[in-house]
Amino acid sequence: MSERPPVTDWATDFDHLSEEWAAKGPEILADLRERCPVAQTERFYGAYLVTRHDDIVETARATDTFSNCITAVNTNHPDNIKLDLSPITLDPPEHGPVRRPLLPSFSPKATDELEPTVVAMAERLLDDVGDRKLVDGALDFAQLLPVEVMGHLFGVSAEMGPTFRQWVDGMLKEGQIDLDIARKAASEVQQFFAAQLADREAMGDDAPDDLVTMVLNAEAELGDGSTRPFGRKERIGALFVLMLGGIDTTWSTLGSMLFHLGSHPDDLKRLVNEPELMPTAVEEFLRYYSPVTIARYITEDADIAGCPVSGGRRVLLSYPSANRDPDYFENPDELILDRQNNRHMAFGVGVHRCLGSNLARMELRVGLTAWLERYPNFELAVEPDEVKWSVGPIRGPRSVPIRILD
Ligand code: HEM
Repeated sequence: MSERPPVTDWATDFDHLSEEWAAKGPEILADLRERCPVAQTERFYGAYLVTRHDDIVETARATDTFSNCITAVNTNHPDNIKLDLSPITLDPPEHGPVRRPLLPSFSPKATDELEPTVVAMAERLLDDVGDRKLVDGALDFAQLLPVEVMGHLFGVSAEMGPTFRQWVDGMLKEGQIDLDIARKAASEVQQFFAAQLADREAMGDDAPDDLVTMVLNAEAELGDGSTRPFGRKERIGALFVLMLGGIDTTWSTLGSMLFHLGSHPDDLKRLVNEPELMPTAVEEFLRYYSPVTIARYITEDADIAGCPVSGGRRVLLSYPSANRDPDYFENPDELILDRQNNRHMAFGVGVHRCLGSNLARMELRVGLTAWLERYPNFELAVEPDEVKWSVGPIRGPRSVPIRILD
């Protein structure tokens, strides 16, 4: 990563793409929530950062003023490349018609049907880990499972896994700072999905039942009851956002879960002894280690929580910070495996709320259950503060060295 001038004051000069933020994000956010709910910076062509729960809800809902046409704050100028990632880069009223046809593929029913396949994938990945006593929970397991799942759903060869990981890293990590890396990755992803779509089209009625075929045949559902086929840009955009949305988010959370349990033996013991806690535990991991911070483009001068914000700039909505807001959660900085009343915002809020949340929850539950059945006793092989966290809009541990215990 390139050298960046150190931050002088996080309230007026924040840099969410710095190593300092990667290392201390939760502490920085706690301080800002307390003293400056709308932080700003002149970096990134001028941007804002909203940290309190209710302000984030309000901003996410005001879709006219806070547009999804840009969803990241990075070194790209706001007027420069605008990637088409329909439906996430669309605002109402265009957004709903493109989102709705994608929903059935991620319904609870579709997810239930997929579950045995994901269980088998997790088991096989753990077979590959085998009897090793030192394992990297992130690189050897957490990163591999969601890539396999998405490859399977797209109907592409498992050999594409490393390329998918490279593209996702290119878009969401290195490419946030080095635009050439992002451009190259974006162009390769677009070409890849264009070829996949052409392939399914050529197969006609023999095309397999996968996400590429689903998107090829998708029809935008217009408000008046009529429909129209997706355009080329919408098809490629939808496949692109499913790949970007479905991989790094899930691997980051699964990696955070292993990091946490490897450094909190009491929580590990409790979850192993009380596996019925798994569904509430997954929600609590999602709250506590929320991976996604997303941006909006400000279409006109406005204010957020009484602070003026300028049109033409971008604003970051910190879902991780909302999930630690003490006005909303009791003891927010404690991870409580059986926390009740956990209406967290890890999957966002408003019209863009995550459409893969059923799938994500299933993958996290299946992945962690398979790991704990195989390795009920383990610990971090390094000090917790030696673990490095990713730089970029998706937060997760880059590596989780684990020692398997008897
Ligand atoms: C732990 C895992 C995940 C987390 C934390 C997560 C989080 C989020 C968040 C916060 C948003 C809202 C963005 C906004 O406010 O603009 C979102 C949107 C989205 N997510 Fe996820 N996501 C996860 C997994 C997935 C999976 C597995 C998929 C699909 C394969 C997926 C697909 C999408 C899509 C397509 C959108 C855009 C929806 C729209 O614009 O209508 N996500 N996700």
